[in-house]
Amino acid sequence: MAVTIKSEREIELMREAGKILAEVHNQLEEIIAPGITTLEIDRKGEELIRKAGCIPSFKGYDGYPASICVSVNDEVVHGIPNKKHRLFEGDIVSLDAGVIYKDYQSDAARTYGVGKISPESQKLIEVTKESFFRGIEFARAGNHLHDISAAIQKYVESNGFSVVRDLVGHGIGKEMHEEPQIPNYKPVGRGIRLCAGMTLAIEPMVNAGGYEVWILEDDWTVVTRDGSNSAHYENTILVTEGDPEILSWI
Ligand code: MF3
Ligand code: CO
Repeated sequence: MAVTIKSEREIELMREAGKILAEVHNQLEEIIAPGITTLEIDRKGEELIRKAGCIPSFKGYDGYPASICVSVNDEVVHGIPNKKHRLFEGDIVSLDAGVIYKDYQSDAARTYGVGKISPESQKLIEVTKESFFRGIEFARAGNHLHDISAAIQKYVESNGFSVVRDLVGHGIGKEMHEEPQIPNYKPVGRGIRLCAGMTLAIEPMVNAGGYEVWILEDDWTVVTRDGSNSAHYENTILVTEGDPEILSWI
């Protein structure tokens, strides 16, 4: 399927899906504390999503068993919530969630520190978030897709961290994963030309050490090969003729 340009009506629905997801993330941030289990975070997230009249898009996606991906420390993404896994002071935790509102999707991720964390972990979280903003500076009609990728990579690497290469951002709309793929590193070529009305999920995944990753035996959890910590930050955005609009944001 080619890259889709959304109509004003579709954009309105995606704004709503984005706003609801932003609110879910804000509420989940409140419950992050030492002692909570990753399953409790998932349960709360699913409850918030359903109360808002939405469907959690991750649940059942390719057999994924939960509504929120909860990834701790060296887990990059797609961690599976578990009632035995408690958060400890000093951990970092990435929450990734998606909702479907009237057939339209939003997708967003945040990384938080649990209690007091090390300065290195704090820097990792901040650089990951900032790399998203450096990237979307280039998400404007007339620019090329890989301008976004290059800006993310440059910022991350200039801070001594690395971007994961095996996983990418994506177009989003009626489907969670639409074209184009959006790498967080600069591939060969400039990529497609961006147009107003494209909706994209841009999601840098940043490792404190090397960029290489493994997948655990559960076939989902992506972890860093060297055991270093990893952070994730994602928003669903709308490309316009001017500044990009962040949809999963309040
Ligand atoms: N947010 C992830 C992405 O952008 C999707 C999670 S995979 C799922 O690709 F299986 F949990 F849905
Ligand atoms: Co995504």
